[in-house]
Amino acid sequence: MSMTVNGAAVSLPDDPRVSLLDLLREYLHLPGTKKGCNQGACGACTVLVDGERILSCLALAVQFEGRSVTTIEGLGAPGSLHPLQQAFIEHDGFQCGYCTPGQICSAIGMAQEIRRGVPSHVTADLCTETISLSHDELRERMSGNLCRCGAHNGIVDAITEVFAEEDILAEAAE
Ligand code: FES
Ligand code: FES
Repeated sequence: MSMTVNGAAVSLPDDPRVSLLDLLREYLHLPGTKKGCNQGACGACTVLVDGERILSCLALAVQFEGRSVTTIEGLGAPGSLHPLQQAFIEHDGFQCGYCTPGQICSAIGMAQEIRRGVPSHVTADLCTETISLSHDELRERMSGNLCRCGAHNGIVDAITEVFAEEDILAEAAE
Protein backbone atom coordinates (compact mmCIF):
# COMPACT_ATOMS: atom_id res chain seq x y z
CA MET A 1 0.00 0.00 0.00
CA SER A 2 1.31 3.44 -0.83
CA MET A 3 0.45 7.11 -1.10
CA THR A 4 2.10 10.17 -2.56
CA VAL A 5 3.62 12.73 -0.21
CA ASN A 6 4.87 15.96 -1.77
CA GLY A 7 5.08 14.24 -5.14
CA ALA A 8 7.02 11.17 -4.01
CA ALA A 9 5.57 7.69 -3.59
CA VAL A 10 5.84 6.38 -0.03
CA SER A 11 4.90 3.07 1.53
CA LEU A 12 2.29 2.99 4.25
CA PRO A 13 3.32 1.53 7.61
CA ASP A 14 2.42 -2.06 8.45
CA ASP A 15 0.72 -0.88 11.63
CA PRO A 16 -2.76 0.37 10.65
CA ARG A 17 -2.99 2.40 13.88
CA VAL A 18 -0.39 4.96 12.76
CA SER A 19 -1.93 8.39 12.27
CA LEU A 20 -1.19 10.38 9.15
CA LEU A 21 0.53 12.94 11.37
CA ASP A 22 2.86 10.34 12.88
CA LEU A 23 3.57 8.89 9.46
CA LEU A 24 4.69 12.31 8.26
CA ARG A 25 6.74 13.24 11.31
CA GLU A 26 8.08 9.97 12.69
CA TYR A 27 8.34 7.71 9.64
CA LEU A 28 9.00 10.17 6.81
CA HIS A 29 10.89 12.73 8.93
CA LEU A 30 8.89 15.69 7.66
CA PRO A 31 8.69 17.79 10.84
CA GLY A 32 7.02 20.80 9.22
CA THR A 33 3.59 19.44 10.14
CA LYS A 34 3.26 20.10 13.86
CA LYS A 35 1.68 18.06 16.65
CA GLY A 36 -0.05 20.53 18.92
CA CYS A 37 -3.05 19.06 20.73
CA ASN A 38 -3.15 15.69 18.88
CA GLN A 39 -6.93 15.70 19.30
CA GLY A 40 -8.32 17.90 16.53
CA ALA A 41 -8.53 21.18 18.40
CA CYS A 42 -5.63 23.38 17.26
CA GLY A 43 -5.12 22.97 13.51
CA ALA A 44 -1.32 22.77 13.75
CA CYS A 45 -1.33 19.42 11.95
CA THR A 46 -3.33 20.58 8.92
CA VAL A 47 -2.18 19.15 5.58
CA LEU A 48 -3.72 18.97 2.11
CA VAL A 49 -5.04 15.68 0.70
CA ASP A 50 -5.82 15.98 -2.99
CA GLY A 51 -6.11 19.71 -2.36
CA GLU A 52 -8.50 19.50 0.59
CA ARG A 53 -7.42 20.44 4.10
CA ILE A 54 -7.61 17.82 6.81
CA LEU A 55 -6.35 17.40 10.38
CA SER A 56 -3.69 14.75 10.11
CA CYS A 57 -3.78 13.93 13.84
CA LEU A 58 -7.34 12.64 13.48
CA ALA A 59 -6.63 10.55 10.38
CA LEU A 60 -5.12 7.12 10.04
CA ALA A 61 -2.46 6.90 7.38
CA VAL A 62 -4.06 3.80 5.83
CA GLN A 63 -7.18 5.82 5.03
CA PHE A 64 -5.22 7.63 2.37
CA GLU A 65 -3.89 4.79 0.28
CA GLY A 66 -3.48 6.04 -3.27
CA ARG A 67 -4.11 9.66 -2.31
CA SER A 68 -1.82 12.66 -2.72
CA VAL A 69 -0.74 14.43 0.47
CA THR A 70 0.91 17.87 0.49
CA THR A 71 2.67 19.22 3.56
CA ILE A 72 4.33 22.56 4.13
CA GLU A 73 7.55 21.05 2.78
CA GLY A 74 5.78 20.44 -0.54
CA LEU A 75 4.46 23.96 -0.96
CA GLY A 76 7.67 25.92 -1.10
CA ALA A 77 11.32 25.96 -0.20
CA PRO A 78 13.93 28.59 0.59
CA GLY A 79 14.43 30.54 -2.61
CA SER A 80 11.10 29.44 -4.08
CA LEU A 81 8.50 30.23 -1.46
CA HIS A 82 4.80 29.81 -2.06
CA PRO A 83 3.22 33.29 -2.41
CA LEU A 84 1.45 32.78 0.90
CA GLN A 85 4.70 31.93 2.68
CA GLN A 86 6.18 35.13 1.29
CA ALA A 87 3.14 37.10 2.42
CA PHE A 88 3.43 35.66 5.95
CA ILE A 89 6.96 37.04 6.08
CA GLU A 90 5.95 40.44 4.76
CA HIS A 91 3.00 40.75 7.15
CA ASP A 92 4.84 39.40 10.20
CA GLY A 93 2.58 36.36 10.53
CA PHE A 94 5.41 34.04 11.56
CA GLN A 95 5.62 35.01 15.21
CA CYS A 96 5.84 31.56 16.77
CA GLY A 97 6.28 29.36 13.74
CA TYR A 98 4.62 26.42 15.46
CA CYS A 99 1.15 27.06 14.11
CA THR A 100 2.36 28.53 10.80
CA PRO A 101 2.57 25.38 8.63
CA GLY A 102 -0.99 24.47 9.56
CA GLN A 103 -2.16 28.03 8.98
CA ILE A 104 -0.66 28.09 5.50
CA CYS A 105 -1.94 24.67 4.45
CA SER A 106 -5.36 25.51 5.87
CA ALA A 107 -5.54 28.86 4.05
CA ILE A 108 -4.72 27.20 0.73
CA GLY A 109 -7.44 24.61 1.30
CA MET A 110 -9.83 27.36 2.38
CA ALA A 111 -9.24 29.30 -0.82
CA GLN A 112 -10.26 26.28 -2.85
CA GLU A 113 -13.39 25.80 -0.72
CA ILE A 114 -14.43 29.39 -1.43
CA ARG A 115 -13.76 28.94 -5.11
CA ARG A 116 -16.02 25.88 -5.12
CA GLY A 117 -18.75 27.93 -3.43
CA VAL A 118 -18.72 25.97 -0.16
CA PRO A 119 -20.57 28.14 2.38
CA SER A 120 -19.40 28.74 5.94
CA HIS A 121 -21.28 29.48 9.14
CA VAL A 122 -21.26 33.21 8.33
CA THR A 123 -22.20 33.02 4.63
CA ALA A 124 -25.45 34.96 4.38
CA ASP A 125 -26.69 33.56 1.05
CA LEU A 126 -26.32 29.79 0.89
CA CYS A 127 -27.36 29.78 -2.79
CA THR A 128 -24.76 32.24 -4.01
CA GLU A 129 -22.22 30.94 -6.49
CA THR A 130 -19.63 33.57 -5.62
CA ILE A 131 -18.37 33.99 -2.08
CA SER A 132 -16.02 36.87 -1.45
CA LEU A 133 -13.19 36.56 1.02
CA SER A 134 -14.54 39.07 3.51
CA HIS A 135 -12.94 39.66 6.88
CA ASP A 136 -15.72 37.70 8.60
CA GLU A 137 -15.49 34.81 6.11
CA LEU A 138 -11.74 34.60 6.57
CA ARG A 139 -11.88 34.64 10.36
CA GLU A 140 -14.65 32.04 10.46
CA ARG A 141 -12.98 29.74 7.95
CA MET A 142 -9.61 29.97 9.69
CA SER A 143 -11.06 29.57 13.19
CA GLY A 144 -9.92 25.95 13.34
CA ASN A 145 -6.30 27.11 13.31
CA LEU A 146 -5.49 28.62 16.66
CA CYS A 147 -3.00 31.44 17.07
CA ARG A 148 -2.42 32.43 20.68
CA CYS A 149 0.09 35.20 20.10
CA GLY A 150 0.13 38.64 18.53
CA ALA A 151 0.59 37.44 14.94
CA HIS A 152 -3.02 36.74 14.13
CA ASN A 153 -3.70 40.11 12.48
CA GLY A 154 -0.62 39.60 10.32
CA ILE A 155 -1.83 36.13 9.37
CA VAL A 156 -5.20 37.56 8.35
CA ASP A 157 -3.52 40.31 6.32
CA ALA A 158 -1.24 37.83 4.54
CA ILE A 159 -4.11 35.52 3.59
CA THR A 160 -6.21 38.46 2.44
CA GLU A 161 -3.42 39.79 0.25
CA VAL A 162 -2.79 36.49 -1.50
CA PHE A 163 -6.32 35.18 -1.89
CA ALA A 164 -8.46 38.27 -2.35
CA GLU A 165 -8.29 38.05 -6.14
CA GLU A 166 -10.29 35.40 -7.95
CA ASP A 167 -7.47 34.67 -10.38
CA ILE A 168 -5.25 33.86 -7.41
CA LEU A 169 -7.94 31.51 -6.09
CA ALA A 170 -7.97 29.76 -9.44
CA GLU A 171 -4.23 29.45 -9.36
CA ALA A 172 -4.36 27.96 -5.85
CA ALA A 173 -6.73 25.24 -7.01
CA GLU A 174 -4.42 23.97 -9.71
S1 FES B 1 -2.48 18.46 16.43
FE1 FES B 1 -4.12 18.03 15.10
S2 FES B 1 -5.61 19.55 15.55
FE2 FES B 1 -4.04 19.86 17.03
S1 FES C 1 1.98 32.64 15.01
FE1 FES C 1 1.80 30.74 16.05
S2 FES C 1 0.61 31.13 17.83
FE2 FES C 1 0.64 32.99 16.72
